[in-house]
Amino acid sequence: MTGSSLLFVNASQVVTCAGPAAARRGAALSDAGARRGVAVAVRDGRIAAVAPERELAGDFADAERIDCGGGLLTPGLVDSHTHAIFGRARYEEQELRATGVSYQEIARRGGGIHASVRDLRTRSEDELVALALPRLQRIAAHGTTTIEVKSGYGLTIDDELKTLRAVRRLQALLPLRLVPTWLGAHEIPLEYRARPDGRRDYLRLLVEEMLPAVAADRLARFADVFCEPGVYTVEESRTLLEAARAAGLGLKLHADELETSGGAELAAALGAVSADHLAAVSEAGVRALAASGTVATLLPGTMLFLGRARQAPARALVEAGVAVALASDFNPGTSPTVNFPLVLTLAVSQLRLNASEALVAATVNGAAALALADRVGQLAPGFSADLALFDAEDARELPYWYGDRLCRGTWVRGVACHPFQPGVTCAALAREGARPQSSSEPSPR
Ligand code: NIG
Ligand code: FE
Repeated sequence: MTGSSLLFVNASQVVTCAGPAAARRGAALSDAGARRGVAVAVRDGRIAAVAPERELAGDFADAERIDCGGGLLTPGLVDSHTHAIFGRARYEEQELRATGVSYQEIARRGGGIHASVRDLRTRSEDELVALALPRLQRIAAHGTTTIEVKSGYGLTIDDELKTLRAVRRLQALLPLRLVPTWLGAHEIPLEYRARPDGRRDYLRLLVEEMLPAVAADRLARFADVFCEPGVYTVEESRTLLEAARAAGLGLKLHADELETSGGAELAAALGAVSADHLAAVSEAGVRALAASGTVATLLPGTMLFLGRARQAPARALVEAGVAVALASDFNPGTSPTVNFPLVLTLAVSQLRLNASEALVAATVNGAAALALADRVGQLAPGFSADLALFDAEDARELPYWYGDRLCRGTWVRGVACHPFQPGVTCAALAREGARPQSSSEPSPR
């Protein structure tokens, strides 16, 4: 992890995303800092320099050389919105939607999130770790190096804590950077929906018992709420998020995902780090986000997979000056994809971003959506040496070869992360002084 120097040479193109350590807006969003003829030097787990190789040769004479083989080097992708801890898949719902039953109707019938909740409650923490590990490895195999992971399929104190403890254990097993988010307000559990004052009682449980337990063990960095008609109202979301802020957590919000409800305005008013989804954001919501520091995280894979015609108004958001990020929303109900570059494809072909905007949205702005913009998302001196190497010569190929897996390797803090080495943890890699690799072995499936 530290103490070693690396020199990444022979990349066709290096997309640095270098610039201010903050979310990018407007014209700055389309400057991905693509350079040719440069090498990237890493020292002690951080980017030391990006410059022509001959300029680095002296200072990095002893560095291990990583031959990029003419590939494309980018900052590791930052996936700022996933629900990666779950039990079984929910493919039957995809077929049901194809017959015309909506996502909301499936939830009303006790499926959807409720189905994943019933399932997760039967699983042990060990099982959750074992299920999530290969999924996270597959995510890493597509170029992602930072992954936010939400709870939200437990909805009891024990099951939510079990989920967040699983994330903590996974962090010790994988060199990936994981960011845990508490989403105890993902749904109103069915057992509470069935009681006259159940809604009020569950909210009280969240605020008075679950949140303090999460905060006491520092199990989450952020709190999130599914603010959506039929799930949590804007006022309930406000109550929960204000309590979370008082408990020391950063704030995120599932906002205006399927129907307009004012979630974007709430996120902006509370100074949330991000408002996520926004397929149904109102014009007032766009204006509120533009005037705020809240990142608009767009998840086009979700609308694609749900078969919905309407995507978030990405161009209107960008043109209004909103800082836009992209994420996968990896989850068993609405976006079971581990392929972040596929999200870039959707960003260009469905959201009408250009490839540079999409890349900045998936790196710098994803980092900003996790309050990490000062340390990840850029290949610039001082930033964490989180890199992804792709089998491409030009950044525009990433969204172009859609559905393919072009990633050849990733590094986190200068440590090889993918191809994953079974049984080798981040700590073990550091101890052994293991060296990053640039091999193109297939990822474990
Ligand atoms: O982001 N909207 C809420 N959460 C997820 C879906 C979760 C599920 O269906 O399991 C989302 O779309
Ligand atoms: Fe989500």
